[in-house]
Amino acid sequence: MELEAMVLKFPLSFKRLIPKTPPSPIRLGFRKLSASSSPTTLQSALLGHSTRPDFPILDQTVNTSKLVYLDNAATSQKPTSVLNALQTYYQTYNSNVHRGIHWLSAKATDEYELARQKVANFVNSTGSGEIVFTRNATEAINLVAYSWGLDNLRAGDEIVLTVAEHHSVIVPWQIVAQKTGSVLKFVSLTEKQMPNLEELKEILNSRQKTKLVVIHHVSNVLGSVLPVEEIVGWAHDVGAKVLVDACQSVPHMEVDVKTLGVDFLVASSHKMCGPTGVGFLYGKSEVLGSMRPFLGGGEMIVDVFLEHSTYAEPPSRFEAGTPAIGEAIGLGAAVDYLSGIGMKSIHKYETELANYLYESLCSISKIEIYGPKPSETLFRAALCSFNVNNVHPTDIATFLDQQYGVAIRSGHHCAQPLHRYLGVSSSARASLYFYNTKEDVDTFIAALKETISFFTSFQGIFSEEAAAAVQSLLLVYAKDDLASLCLWFDDIKKHKDMHWIDVLHLADTPDLNITGLMLNLISNRMDLGVSRLLAIVVELFVSKWIPMYQSGVASCSG
Ligand SMILES: Cc1ncc(COP(=O)(O)O)c(C=O)c1O
Repeated sequence: MELEAMVLKFPLSFKRLIPKTPPSPIRLGFRKLSASSSPTTLQSALLGHSTRPDFPILDQTVNTSKLVYLDNAATSQKPTSVLNALQTYYQTYNSNVHRGIHWLSAKATDEYELARQKVANFVNSTGSGEIVFTRNATEAINLVAYSWGLDNLRAGDEIVLTVAEHHSVIVPWQIVAQKTGSVLKFVSLTEKQMPNLEELKEILNSRQKTKLVVIHHVSNVLGSVLPVEEIVGWAHDVGAKVLVDACQSVPHMEVDVKTLGVDFLVASSHKMCGPTGVGFLYGKSEVLGSMRPFLGGGEMIVDVFLEHSTYAEPPSRFEAGTPAIGEAIGLGAAVDYLSGIGMKSIHKYETELANYLYESLCSISKIEIYGPKPSETLFRAALCSFNVNNVHPTDIATFLDQQYGVAIRSGHHCAQPLHRYLGVSSSARASLYFYNTKEDVDTFIAALKETISFFTSFQGIFSEEAAAAVQSLLLVYAKDDLASLCLWFDDIKKHKDMHWIDVLHLADTPDLNITGLMLNLISNRMDLGVSRLLAIVVELFVSKWIPMYQSGVASCSG
């Protein structure tokens, strides 16, 4: 069983197996927050409140609390107008594009191409021919890597990236570097935890080997913003092209590909109020026109012979097969929606919200927020990745969700090299969008304070031996070794402060649907969230030990 995929669930039959011994003394009543509402108001506070009705999904109860959705850097919610555009396509003119001569197909083709034009206008490209629809930003980057990279990079050429890039930016270029013999050069961070631009300039100028610079616009972990226009100038001076990962900028601010001067830029629809399954690549027309196809198939050809084919002009050359038609049309509706609000207004509001989030988090003791302070950068994006001393980020995220309905992210956020660079393996991340409000931030902060106080109250209550026992359990689990499991069971019972039935009984306490809180110490040592750790214990108990015991295989006593 995959540890990552494990969800903590107690089968009903399992509850009956738990003896009703008195519950251990734990602090209860965390569900109701004493959220102190701060008097601060944001200048453009109305935006969050006025747009919220457009997102019915936000108006719901999760785990008996009102949902507070703060995982927007992973994916945004979709307004009703986008949902309607999808529904209208499938309900009234669903058809394939570019091929049919009937009315439905003509209508679908018009709307699909109109969506492309909307995206082109949104990023101010010269024309819709410079916009290629892809499955997502990741596919757009792979398209450039395979179509441009394999033909234009030679052994010894350098590709410059920063250590703060997303995996979808790093991995395709690793593959291309392995195939071509080109070399990846990574720019480190400054003391303020921003990519070191002096180092970037130095790599470009001193070595004169760079063929491509691949950078984010806004970091999905650090919240920092790179001066893309300047970097493009430096890169072009040494003859290098620039690919910008704009996944975290296009949804939140005006992005103008002409002003930035980039050669390639990618973004994903699902982070900008659009549907999943579609993203786009902007490429300068002369560069796209010089590139070979990425995938072969229908739609991307002019003529097909048995031995060879001729290819269509971009963007069709890069859109083999039936595209995500409804989704692209949905993205067009998302662009209309965002443009209706105005990217300047969204950016202004989010910058205020970002500062409010940052300042509010700073009021929490023993917290480390990654990335520059708002005063140290042009502006900070409305997201904060952080760690709290001695509390695992997965526990923070689990507890916030289960106790307070607050959805944040924990993990490496697809930026493992960056986390390693920062000296941690994971972090918690709250990320906002324009439909979030100051009240959402207040609720999150109040819930976070309660969460931290809850977890820290359990620290140190278990002996090192108990910690070691659970650690050995996990090793046994990993090896799927039933004999050792029996030994572990006998062993664990010797530790009265770590009696497994108490652990499971705690999990059954109605006021707390989170489990395994007491394993905090161990989980930190093992870099596993407490709830995941206990899920493993429960899984073992239900799936292995009980059947084993019932069938008399077990030699250990229970
Ligand atoms: C900065 C950044 N780049 C790239 C991606 C990849 O986006 P997608 O998974 O939609 O391709 C993400 C998504 O999390 C991101 O935040």
